[in-house]
Amino acid sequence: MALIAPSILSADFLNLGQEIRNIQEAGARILHVDVMDGHFVPNLTIGLPVIEALRNSTDLLLDVHLMISNPEQMVEAYIDAGADYLSVHYETVDHLDRLMERIREKGAQPGVVLNPHTPVLILEDILKKCHHILLMSVNPGYGGQKFIFASFDKVRKLKSLIDSQGLNVKIEIDGGMGPDNTEEAVKSGVDIVIAGSAIFHSQSPKDTFHQMQRIAEGAAVLKGNNAISA
Ligand code: DX5
Ligand code: ZN
Repeated sequence: MALIAPSILSADFLNLGQEIRNIQEAGARILHVDVMDGHFVPNLTIGLPVIEALRNSTDLLLDVHLMISNPEQMVEAYIDAGADYLSVHYETVDHLDRLMERIREKGAQPGVVLNPHTPVLILEDILKKCHHILLMSVNPGYGGQKFIFASFDKVRKLKSLIDSQGLNVKIEIDGGMGPDNTEEAVKSGVDIVIAGSAIFHSQSPKDTFHQMQRIAEGAAVLKGNNAISA
């Protein structure tokens, strides 16, 4: 089943606890957490202390997206802080094979993130070590940007690559997602739709979450029917 993962980047940081309780009550199971270092990406967000605080206050799965240079120095610390899923950018790592193993051995689910300009084919020999692949559908660094439409082609290519290897690697999409493009994302092969501003800047984050989750579930059912009748 496809899931919606709210991204706290667009939440009210002064009321983070309440924002998370609301979204959990709405039925969220995964929380997306963006770590930016002001170096790999221009923006600066949160780090280990906030992830520890989140871990101590919620049992939601924490999907931690590292937008930092040299993540190899930090992955163990982020897992100790509470990351359940830990994603590193392909563009930041020299020894990805070893890093996926280190993350898994430390007890988290490893994933690779691709920037919009990075082709999915470079994943061919690393896919089997990954729990998930996160495709950026905006250039990373900020919430509230416009979705890059070509991202759906990348999702389809990635899905074929995963299927051709007989793997069950999850596909996440991140950036510019909302009620309008969730259906096509899931039909293209996305398992986890990440959404920040569409949820937290809406009048009712709970209602928007529900709306997106319903769309995702409906699209997943349609996709299943197509597969059966094809
Ligand atoms: C952007 C972050 C995203 C961000 C998405 O670099 O990785 O997770 O929260 O925000 P929206 O959904 O507003 O595009
Ligand atoms: Zn993100």
